Amino acid sequence: MIRIDSIYNRASAVVLHPGCCLDLLRDMPDGCAKLVVTSPPYNLSKEYEKKVSIEEYLYRQRPVIKECVRVLHPKGSICWQVGNFVENGAILPLDILLYETFAGHGLHYRNRIVWHFGHGLHCTRRMSGRYETINWFTMAAKDYTFHLDPIRVPQKYPGKKYFKGPKAGECSCNPKGKNPGDVWDIPNVKHNHVEKTVHPCQFPVELVERLVLALTDAGDLVVDPFMGVGTTAVAAVMHGRRAAGAEVVPEYVEIARKRVRLAADGRLRTRPMTRPIYEPRPSDAQAAKRRVRGKSRIA
Ligand SMILES: C[S@@+](CC[C@H](N)C(=O)[O-])C[C@H]1O[C@@H](n2cnc3c(N)ncnc32)[C@H](O)[C@@H]1O
Repeated sequence: MIRIDSIYNRASAVVLHPGCCLDLLRDMPDGCAKLVVTSPPYNLSKEYEKKVSIEEYLYRQRPVIKECVRVLHPKGSICWQVGNFVENGAILPLDILLYETFAGHGLHYRNRIVWHFGHGLHCTRRMSGRYETINWFTMAAKDYTFHLDPIRVPQKYPGKKYFKGPKAGECSCNPKGKNPGDVWDIPNVKHNHVEKTVHPCQFPVELVERLVLALTDAGDLVVDPFMGVGTTAVAAVMHGRRAAGAEVVPEYVEIARKRVRLAADGRLRTRPMTRPIYEPRPSDAQAAKRRVRGKSRIA
């Protein structure tokens, strides 16, 4: 059975710290983490947070970001996954507000990845929010870990060939697949998602898997300061990386432990990275019901 420690130790395969992330990070040596990936609280009055002013929120994030930068490996990456803070119906995009903090540490902004999903609250006074962002920064300007092959996605026209020139008849696209781009269509974890736990804001394992595979090597340490139910640790363990995370809610830590154990045994059910987005077919029961309702309204 995989050993899960509560306090950081260089030899640990997995550390799930029950408490504040600053306590975990301050125990970690400089440069030990190849990837920091997290989704911090968004200050939306979820059950695990108390809403504060946006200034206070940004002020509280700073020491955590500073510690994350300190523990970052010279070839490492930070991926900060955020959405919007909402005040009196007006949105404040947290990635824009946090940008200066990361840039102020000399990090290099590689991608603002748009994570698009199909489900969420239905707004009545503005368009419904259907994306959040993953803000990828590297410590190094040039020499940073990045592997494209493990995260390639199928080509749109895999059989496409050059029709003229010296390569006429040869395949014109990479047979290994294409770069996934910076807009990722990945279902969010709602009630019918196979990964759903009691946590109100889990991110999907496949979102983190992409980052783990692209930005780390086997055996590297992946850190999540706000780990919730341990999704980052799960993705890390599934791919032979080490993991460390902190969480203040004991119930979430317990769930994280169970999920990591199942993942280490290959028994955790997750949505596979390669599964296409589900498109309802006309014959599906729900679609059929909608058609019937639609007809009766017209009639
Ligand atoms: C948006 S959720 C992260 C969910 C996570 N990505 C997952 O998939 O389960 C943010 C988490 O940060 C936790 N949290 C808030 N303040 C914290 C702190 N100072 N240290 C550690 N965790 C904290 C909250 O309890 C919450 O579970």
